[in-house]
Amino acid sequence: MTIVLPEFGEAFRRSRGRNVRAGLQRGVGLQDHNLAEQLHQDKLYNKAMELAQNRTVLTEQNRMNLYLILRFGFDSLAAGHIVEFGTYRGGSALFMAAVCKELYPDMKVYAFDTFEGMPPTDPQRDLYRAGDFGDAEFEDLLEIIEREKIENLHLVRGRFEDTAEDALKNIGAVRLSHIDCDIYTAVKYSYDISRKYMVDGGYWVFDDCLYADCMGAMEAVEELTIQRDGRFAEQVFPHLVYRNWP
Ligand SMILES: C[S@@+](CC[C@H](N)C(=O)[O-])C[C@H]1O[C@@H](n2cnc3c(N)ncnc32)[C@H](O)[C@@H]1O
Repeated sequence: MTIVLPEFGEAFRRSRGRNVRAGLQRGVGLQDHNLAEQLHQDKLYNKAMELAQNRTVLTEQNRMNLYLILRFGFDSLAAGHIVEFGTYRGGSALFMAAVCKELYPDMKVYAFDTFEGMPPTDPQRDLYRAGDFGDAEFEDLLEIIEREKIENLHLVRGRFEDTAEDALKNIGAVRLSHIDCDIYTAVKYSYDISRKYMVDGGYWVFDDCLYADCMGAMEAVEELTIQRDGRFAEQVFPHLVYRNWP
C-alpha cells in the first residue's frame, strides 16, 4: 500500500549529522498527521504486528516508527544488518524481521538478550533490578521463529558484554541498532559496540530512554551520544533516533 508522508519542504535536509526532514516526517506524521491511520491499513505493517503483538512491550507508536524507518529510511542497495539489544519475548525482533523479510531479503536481524531477565543493575541510576523481565519464554520464541519461518532472525543468548563483541565481528556492518535494554550499563555498552560497525547514515533507535522509569538509559544516551560524540537527535518523538553521519 502507498503511504503518504507529510511534506516539510526541501529546506529541512541534512545538518549536524541528522536528516531533519526525515525526522519531521516520521515524528510529526505520527504525532499530528494521519500516519497511524494509514499504517493501520497497511498490509505488511499488520502482518508483522500480528506476529509481534502478544510478545512485545513496545508501544504502538514506537513500533510504527520502526516500521517507517525500515520502509522509508533504508537505501535498498546499502549493506548492513539490524542488531537489537534487549529482546525479551521477541516482539520487536519478530516485527523487524518480518518486515525485512519482505523488503530486504539479504538483511538479517540479530537479537541479543540474556532471555532470562536483567543482569545486576545500578541502584543509584536504574529502577529495574536483576531478574526483571525473567519470563522471556525462550523455547516458545524459538518455536515461533521456526513455525513462522522467520529465517532472517537470529537470537544471541547471554549478557551483551559476553556475546556482542564476537557476534558483531561475524555480523559486520550494521544499519540499525535498536537499543531497548532500559538500564545504564547495558545502553552504554550497546551504543558503543554497535558504533564500531555502524554504516554511514545508519540508525540508533533508543526505545526507552524517554520513559520515566528508564533514567539510567537516558543518562547513558546523554553521556555518550550527546556529550562525548556530539550527536544531535534526528527525532525525539515517539523515541530518540540518532544517525551516523559526520
Ligand atoms: C524492555 S525489555 C526488551 C523489550 C523488547 N524489545 C520487546 O519488544 O518487548 C529489556 C530487555 O533487556 C535485557 N537486558 C538488559 N541488559 C542486558 C544485558 N546486559 N545483557 C543481555 N540482556 C540485557 C533484559 O533481559 C530484558 O529482556
